[in-house]
Amino acid sequence: MDGSKEMLVRDLALGRFASNIMDRFEDSLAKQLDLHDPLAPFRNEFYVPSGTIYLDGNSLGPLTRAGETALKEALEAWREKAIGGWLEANPPWFDLAEHVATLLAPLIGADPTEVILANSTTVNLHQLLATFYEPRSGRDCILIDEVAFPTDRYAVDSHLRLRGQPVDRCRRLVPSRDGRTLSETDIIGSLDESVQIAILPSVIYTSGQLLDLPAVVSAAHRHGVLIGFDCSHSVGVVPHQLSEWGVDFAFFCTYKYLNGGPGAPAAIFVHRRHHGRMPGMAGWFGNQKETQFQMDSVFTPAPGARAFQMGTPPILSMAPLVGSLSLIRDAGMTAIRAKSQRLTSHLRQWLLDQNHSHELTFADPEDAEQRGGHVALVHRDAGAISRALRREGVIVDFRPPDIVRLAPAPLYTSFVDCWNAAAIVGRLLRDHGYRSELTVPDRIP
Ligand SMILES: Cc1ncc(COP(=O)(O)O)c(C=O)c1O
Repeated sequence: MDGSKEMLVRDLALGRFASNIMDRFEDSLAKQLDLHDPLAPFRNEFYVPSGTIYLDGNSLGPLTRAGETALKEALEAWREKAIGGWLEANPPWFDLAEHVATLLAPLIGADPTEVILANSTTVNLHQLLATFYEPRSGRDCILIDEVAFPTDRYAVDSHLRLRGQPVDRCRRLVPSRDGRTLSETDIIGSLDESVQIAILPSVIYTSGQLLDLPAVVSAAHRHGVLIGFDCSHSVGVVPHQLSEWGVDFAFFCTYKYLNGGPGAPAAIFVHRRHHGRMPGMAGWFGNQKETQFQMDSVFTPAPGARAFQMGTPPILSMAPLVGSLSLIRDAGMTAIRAKSQRLTSHLRQWLLDQNHSHELTFADPEDAEQRGGHVALVHRDAGAISRALRREGVIVDFRPPDIVRLAPAPLYTSFVDCWNAAAIVGRLLRDHGYRSELTVPDRIP
């Protein structure tokens, strides 16, 4: 063996040795972090699919034990009382949306009268646009961003069409410089006197970027613009003060970090300064409760956000929230956010450590303060990598064209989970173990 080969072999061996030591060090760091994690006991309260590292709670949070109990109780009430469940179940179904809203309010910094459970996220945005979009001469545009979740964009366009407003002029887009994130400067620069409403995400569903909501709200109000947020990717993992920040309205799903279950009803927040405004789309469950069953032909809105309900609430789909929201309340949003930031920061670092030979890029901000609940790994073969990871039991998801989303949820994901997930990603990238998935068509979710 000549000298240079010898050196190469020695360096490789040393490298392997060093990386093994590093692996063991990080592995024990992950164990230590778990050992000192005050939220660790909450993991037992969740049904994490066995044999998996579940990093997809930003798509669908797993069932909680408390949610299962609440759902069983609702079923039992239906079995035992049938129609009687509307008044005799515990809590009575007639008040269930209000009861769940009371549990949800502190998690988003709202008064219980400012929030209600109803409909789906998309329908709630339609309701809010029907209520708050009032085009008038010189101020008839809706501002949305270029990377908005598609349903938000569809809803905005359909309201412009419904009011006979030209979509190409009246739908104003905040540009994204990199196709994944937004700059608050660009958002603020897009606000002017022609904009009547702005609809923006709190956390961008692809990149996981958390916007500076208070700064954006102040700027919108300086320009006389009403501002509403899609908070689907932030509620339950990031604390909010919607009321204090003066957010005009917000809407979000409850099946991600709130663990409500597939198709659980969504939420609407309407700031108290707008209470009393007639809902754009009225329905009998938005009527005052005291007179709802008088079957009056005149709609008398319920107080606060409750007026924005429409039809009969889906009791069985809402019941698990009674359990899961109580759990989240017990854990506390400050502790949840603190752990979330540590989980995502360590996960990012471990992914980098495992992949020093590859250039790894992230779409989520490096600064944990600007990151929501997930890490967004950018790779040209993101679809194949996501499928290969699922095959290995690491449940992540793929958002086209090139993002693998990894969401460690503070109440049931451990640091060791993150460490193991990073190691599996590292192996797949090193061995090209995902290549067999390249020809498989994408099936989402
Ligand atoms: C940001 C965002 N908005 C809206 C939705 C979907 O709305 P809906 O619950 O009406 O299907 C999702 C679903 O993942 C989402 O991530």
